This record gives sequence, structure tokens and C-alpha cells, in this order.
Amino acid sequence: MSPQISPSILSADFARLAEEAEAVRGADWLHVDVMDNHFVPNLTLGLPVVESLRKATDIPLDCHLMIEDPDRWAPQYAEAGAGSVTFHVEAAAAPVRLARELRSLGARASMALKPATPIEPYEDLLPELDMVLLMTVEPGFGGQSFLDITLPKIRRTRRLIDRHGLRLWLQVDGGVSATTIERCAEAGADVFVAGSAVYGADDPAAAVQALREQAERATAAAPWVDQH
Ligand code: DX5
Ligand code: ZN
Repeated sequence: MSPQISPSILSADFARLAEEAEAVRGADWLHVDVMDNHFVPNLTLGLPVVESLRKATDIPLDCHLMIEDPDRWAPQYAEAGAGSVTFHVEAAAAPVRLARELRSLGARASMALKPATPIEPYEDLLPELDMVLLMTVEPGFGGQSFLDITLPKIRRTRRLIDRHGLRLWLQVDGGVSATTIERCAEAGADVFVAGSAVYGADDPAAAVQALREQAERATAAAPWVDQH
């Protein structure tokens, strides 16, 4: 799969979300960070905003739920028309049941891991998922610096995906920019969330395209690509 870019509206102007979605036309996804002030120390937006955004843009929504009790709340985001719904494994009581429910509602099911959460205990869950999101900063805020310590986990996750012959996507989120996207692609990521690197640019759509081209070049030279 060629690299995909998912601009995070956390760095957009929340009073002008429809225009901000239009500003990244050409993006594969629109990354929507839902925070509940419990799972992370920040509060952003929730279901009503996602429902409105769904009607305001044709870009599929990539909802990243940084919330407690995703078993209860995540299915509603699938029902609201999100193309992809990501729950945090640290917060999910029954991740397999939740992933199956999300898929049955027509969404891609995705599981996120914080930087200190290892992937290995979840190896057997991977066939239940359409994407794994590896946080490359501690979740909660945009504009943080990329954590290089997460690169080995990206490599290990890519190896697990390939070893099992799975088609699931590997997303990275946090501090992804022109400076760091190539490292992520070389390590095995194929879906890239970028907030401040896109919305902080003078031309967000051009920033999306530039990131995509960087990721494509780095992927073409990446060791893991030979295995496909
Ligand atoms: C952080 C969010 C990210 C955030 C990324 O918890 O999950 O999606 O918007 O922002 P940048 O790209 O600025 O690090
Ligand atoms: Zn996110």
C-alpha cells in the first residue's frame, strides 16, 4: 500500500472545521482526536462534532479515541460514519469484542498503543484489526517532539504484521513532520498522522503532498518493503 497521510485537526481552528477540512484536500483521511480529560489530561471534542464534520467533508474520518471506556463509546463513532475508529488498548476491557463490533458497523477497527505499551502481548489480536496506531509522543497534546525510542517498536510491529501475512496498516501519531516522517517510513509505518506539521504550514494541502512524497521515497528504500 502506498503511504497515506492523515492530517490531525487538533492543530486546526475548531471554529472553522469545515474550511480546515477543505484546506487539506488530497489527504487520505482526516484525523479526529477525541479526548475525555480522563484517559489523557486534555478535553477536545466528541460525537456531535464528528457527526457534523461527517456531513461537512468527503474526506473519510479517522477517529482516534483517547477516552476511558471505549467499549461503551467507540461504536457510536462507527455509527456516526467514521471510516476508521481507533481505541486505546490500555483503556479497552474487551478489545476483541470491540474490534469485531466496529467492523460489524462498517468501520475499520484500529487499536492504539501509548509509547510505553509493548506490542508483543497483542500479537494474537492483530488479525482482528485493520490498523495499529503507535503513539510516537505521549497522547494528549499536539506539537510535541517525536520520541525516537518508539522506532524499535515500529520495526517490531512491522515484522509481526509481515510474519502473520496480514494486510493491516501501521499508523504513527505524534511529532510526525518533514524531519521525522522518513524515519517512521523506514521503520515500517504506512499511515502518517500530522497535526502541527500540516496546519502550521502556510499551505496545508501542499504540506500534505510534500509529506506524502517524502514518505513514498523513504518507503521505496525501506528494508521491510521487500517482504511484500
Ligand atoms: C496527540 C494526538 C495527535 C496530535 C498530533 O495526542 O493524538 O493526533 O494531533 O499532533 P502533532 O502532529 O502536532 O504531534
Ligand atoms: Zn491522534
